[in-house]
Amino acid sequence: MNARHATADRRGFLGGMALAAISTSASRAADPQPVASRPGLITREKEPSNLEFSFPSLDGPVTPTNEFFVRTHFPVPTIDAKEWKLTVDGEVERELTLTYGDLLKMPAKTMPALLECAGNGRAQLVPKAKGLLWDSGAVGTAEWTGVPLSAVLEKAGVKKGAVEVILQGPDAGEVADEPKSPGAIRYERSLSLGKAMKPEVFLAYKMNGKDLTREHGFPVRAIVGGWYGMASVKWLTRITVTATPFQGYWQTLEYAYWKREQGRPTLTAVTEMQVKAQIARPALSEPVPAGKPYRVFGAAWGGESEVAKVDVSTDGGKTWEPAKLLGESVPFAWRLWEYQWSVPKAPGRYKLMARGTDAKGQTQPEKHDKDRRTYMINFVMPVDVEVV
Ligand code: MTE
Repeated sequence: MNARHATADRRGFLGGMALAAISTSASRAADPQPVASRPGLITREKEPSNLEFSFPSLDGPVTPTNEFFVRTHFPVPTIDAKEWKLTVDGEVERELTLTYGDLLKMPAKTMPALLECAGNGRAQLVPKAKGLLWDSGAVGTAEWTGVPLSAVLEKAGVKKGAVEVILQGPDAGEVADEPKSPGAIRYERSLSLGKAMKPEVFLAYKMNGKDLTREHGFPVRAIVGGWYGMASVKWLTRITVTATPFQGYWQTLEYAYWKREQGRPTLTAVTEMQVKAQIARPALSEPVPAGKPYRVFGAAWGGESEVAKVDVSTDGGKTWEPAKLLGESVPFAWRLWEYQWSVPKAPGRYKLMARGTDAKGQTQPEKHDKDRRTYMINFVMPVDVEVV
């Protein structure tokens, strides 16, 4: 999808009135560490940088920062933390401007949270979808440190009648392909006020114990636990509280799906993640020794609810058996699981499947629902392996 984004830089939109602030907050210094390609990550697009984690290399509850997928729509801004400012405006009693130092002085919390891009798995859609063809690695769990968004909103004092909170980044450009943007736009997304006040929504400045890296949102990004990754706005510079629902590009034309309300399809912003289990090993087409035990291994996650169970099939979905959930359930993170497969003696191709169910009893569908367009892809995906 991103090859069609004409960037702010290329098109020279930075001189425009509306986007004038970008050039100060995002100075374009030479990048000491190019992020366009990196060992261990699959390059889906060079510019802007879109990199995928190799899911078969999953080996623990926390994804190392240098293996964490990167999803950007515009060039990665370079921001000097000393100059960075966060504006809080709109339906608030007191407009605020917070510096990096101000944020660091506020009480912080550390929690693991999973981010999954709403287009993760898009490569599996038939017919072939437009957009970045993520396989299964646009997902990862990191430990984030930051300040609850509720604390910042309480400082500003949310006015009665407020309904949403828009999170805005400084990155901008024009989307040149369909659906076209109305000229240059920034990356921004809203949350309902109810979600914004939840403890799993916070402004993070550390990832896995270290300052955020540039591509993951340095100096400060939002983390919206339980929602698809598009809500976790990076390089956060402005928070606007609104009295009406926001209808911006990134939640109407993109990252939106058809929700049927009394049979009426209504374009609705993608929000909560859908339950999903993915197999890390064996990998696609991996040769598996016949007649021996094999540990099938993967991860499963829900959105705002926990994973209740994972079932595995080694015969293309005819029969299912429960997998073992490993460790403890951690809200908003994934749960690793394993299944001891007694590999048949007969060589040949076998179809492995994993199916997650969450605590609300929601389970993965067999097919992708077209109303979801190319987002929220959680149908059960088979992994074909070769028993040799
Ligand atoms: N924030 C800004 N400012 N610009 C972006 O392009 N991409 C979003 C979100 N936040 C984006 C953004 C999307 S679609 C995803 S999936 C996550 O960031 C990915 O976060 P990551 O790159 O740290 O993995």
